[in-house]
Amino acid sequence: MNIKQITPYQILDSRGEPTIMVRMMSDSGNSAEFAVPAGASRGANEAVEKRDGGSDYSGKGVMSSIEVITNVIAPKFIGYPLGQQDDFDGLLIALDGSEKKQNLGGNTLLGLSGAYLKLSAVEAKKPLWQYIAEANQTTPEFPRLFANIVGGGKHAPGLDIQEYMVVPQSNSPRDAVKVIYNVYHTIQKVMQNLYGPSAKLVGDEGGLAPIGTNTEVILEAFSQLNSKMEEKFDIALDAAANTFYKDGIYTVENQQLHASDLLKLYEAWDSKFPIFSIEDPFAENDVEGIEILKTLPKQNKPFLIIADDYTVTNKAKIEELQQSELFDGIIIKPNQVGTITETFEAIAAARQSKAKVIISHRSGETNDNFIVDLAYGVGAMGMKLGAPMRGERVAKYNRLLEIQADLEANQTNASAGATAQQVNTTPTPTEKSTPSAATTSGSFAPASSSPNTPIPPTTIVNPTPSTPNTINNITTQSSTPSPAVPAQPSTPPLPPGPQLSP
Ligand code: PGA
Ligand code: ZN
Repeated sequence: MNIKQITPYQILDSRGEPTIMVRMMSDSGNSAEFAVPAGASRGANEAVEKRDGGSDYSGKGVMSSIEVITNVIAPKFIGYPLGQQDDFDGLLIALDGSEKKQNLGGNTLLGLSGAYLKLSAVEAKKPLWQYIAEANQTTPEFPRLFANIVGGGKHAPGLDIQEYMVVPQSNSPRDAVKVIYNVYHTIQKVMQNLYGPSAKLVGDEGGLAPIGTNTEVILEAFSQLNSKMEEKFDIALDAAANTFYKDGIYTVENQQLHASDLLKLYEAWDSKFPIFSIEDPFAENDVEGIEILKTLPKQNKPFLIIADDYTVTNKAKIEELQQSELFDGIIIKPNQVGTITETFEAIAAARQSKAKVIISHRSGETNDNFIVDLAYGVGAMGMKLGAPMRGERVAKYNRLLEIQADLEANQTNASAGATAQQVNTTPTPTEKSTPSAATTSGSFAPASSSPNTPIPPTTIVNPTPSTPNTINNITTQSSTPSPAVPAQPSTPPLPPGPQLSP
């Protein structure tokens, strides 16, 4: 099946800023859409986001990208075959021709690359997650959810640390979402009691945005609640330390600290309220911070060190920094690099370096829930998806619940001998093609195929539960255990019939 039509749109993201959506249609009349997110606290080496400049939309319009797609890129790809992601992305990268995609923009390329992937999955009559799993030779597995409960940094006023997250220990979406619901609604009440009605307001990722608080208050509230809940969670922070670092000094919680003192502050928090992981604990360009990371033990650190701004979903950056095994986990955000193929490469590089893969949303999101299929399809250890609040965040929660329910319905159908299709339990290698040259007419000709390289699957690691705190003035929404969810087979059954991408 070939591409028949490519239509780009300027739409608005969750911050009300313009972004790109691409709709791609095939000869068969199927279509798929991809909407591009945007970050606010970005790493210096992310793919460049193309914006119009000028006065419209405060210079943030994307109409120049819309025009380039319509007039330059789309005509080249009409008639181009689907299902050849590497080639397609290779051609996009070549068309841009720059290292950081500053010519066409990472946002422009990702809209096209993502729509192509989704439409290819539709034409292959496979759920997107399965198509992704086969392309990467991975075993689908639900990620642990890193849910933002309280926000700060560039996402909300009031706190220097950017994200206070809970990570339920169960990776069953239904169980995890229930834990997150209970934590979110309980902490919301606690914050309102402490700081008044305005503490109900939320930041860019849906996390609560209390004013006048500090990290210890938040962590203590989390820990108290954890001690009362049957289903335990871990606590994770995204310091996003780039945002409070200047000239060798971190200005955080009314203190001015060098990296070594900032580490002591993290350790002090961790000793009172055990922390599972800290993302971007130091600024990416702080040499002292990097040296400190090198001195930390490779195993059994007090908390896991996660890279986001350091590695920006860039295979080369990951390989370079992971020579010293600096990070235990690596954040993957497709728009940091600009194409699906490079996102897959970054995931493979992270795994090769023994780091856990954590797929992530951006603070400026759309209702596109692609990252859920990506996280499940590649069997990522974790997924950052914001709070269970605001439509663009809830879209991700709901897609997780939908995938789980589909899998269960399929299991039921299969065991009842109903019409559900049987699954092929061994992922089949997908066809990978060599890039084709542009023809003289300016369009891209079909390419030939060769087998893909297998990537080993990851496993979910359940860390030691946080030590319960003994203070007991928090009441939970509910502490009854949820009903057991049947274990997922390593390759789950295929939902019946072709699925249009969401
Ligand atoms: P973003 O940051 O605002 O750039 O999306 C999110 C993060 O740092 O994880
Ligand atoms: Zn981050």
